[in-house]
Amino acid sequence: MKARVLSGLQPSGQLHIGNYLGAVKNWAEIQGGYESIFCIVDLHAVTVYQEPKELAAKIRETAALFLAAGIDPEQSSVIVQSSVSGHAELAWMLTCVTPLGWLQRMTQFKAKAEKQETIGDGLLQYPVLMAADILLYQAAIVPVGEDQSQHLELTRDIAQRFNSLYGQTFVVPATHLPIVGARIMGLDDPTQKMSKSATGSGHAIALLDDLKTIQKKILRATTDSQPAVDVETMGPGIANLLTIAQACDSSVTKESVNGMRYGDFKKRVAEAVIARLEPIQKRYREVTADPAYIDGILTRGREHVLPIAEDTVRKVKSAMGLYV
Ligand code: AMP
Ligand code: TRP
Repeated sequence: MKARVLSGLQPSGQLHIGNYLGAVKNWAEIQGGYESIFCIVDLHAVTVYQEPKELAAKIRETAALFLAAGIDPEQSSVIVQSSVSGHAELAWMLTCVTPLGWLQRMTQFKAKAEKQETIGDGLLQYPVLMAADILLYQAAIVPVGEDQSQHLELTRDIAQRFNSLYGQTFVVPATHLPIVGARIMGLDDPTQKMSKSATGSGHAIALLDDLKTIQKKILRATTDSQPAVDVETMGPGIANLLTIAQACDSSVTKESVNGMRYGDFKKRVAEAVIARLEPIQKRYREVTADPAYIDGILTRGREHVLPIAEDTVRKVKSAMGLYV
């Protein structure tokens, strides 16, 4: 039997090249070697308010982007988190074995909590729900960007704590980071992670930005006052652009760009990004032309994973002495 892979992505904001290079591209590359499940985590998205109509549309848009970016529904299950009740059900049981201090230490919780006037309980529970997503399917491998490493460590801690309290129940999952692109930084400020929630039109490259806009954003990206690329001494802006180009096109090497003037280098980066995103955008337009196709994929995904989820919930209830 193939080992199971699971990962998730929130259907909120604009999917950007950090999400693609840090996560979805990696999913598409490894899906054939595993039993793969890719989850649109709408219950995570509502930890901050989402306009209901927009959220409903975003869920389908995200599914279409997964398919456009190379997730193959013949090889992988694409599911919507809220369509399988086991995610929320298991999250409660895991909440009961998770010390509050573990959650209060999470850096993403601290960063998000700072931005909110009132902190919803969901924001604190967010990583427990993520642990439930993973443990529900007994996933062995979780491909994510680097910002999720701490949440994955917590998932392992929760799994181990449950296993030691109630007996061996969960597979303890491993984190799988991409070799290039695990942490893409903002184009406007290369000291900040590229993020969906950051504002500023020069910050992120959205996967659906038109090609001219992509070119413009890259040409305007913040660098430093050097005239040309020096791979020995490059600052964070140039290093980030180089990472983006290498992750989009493996023929871009340090040697091939060393000594290039910044203007020419940026054009090379734009070329690599556009060559990567153009076919994804084309496929996205094809996929979205047929909404019934997307719904069919999501229904099939759900039907495929439901028995796995039900089996785990039954095991967990039985281990805890709950009524089964
Ligand atoms: P999210 O947008 O928070 O739902 O993230 C979905 C996936 O994209 C996760 O695996 C993240 O680790 C990954 N990701 C988000 N932002 C970046 C980034 N700037 N660089 C690399 N990976 C990222
Ligand atoms: N918290 C993740 C993020 O924001 C998304 C996520 C939810 C996830 N559940 C998951 C990632 C399970 C991997 C596995 O990026």
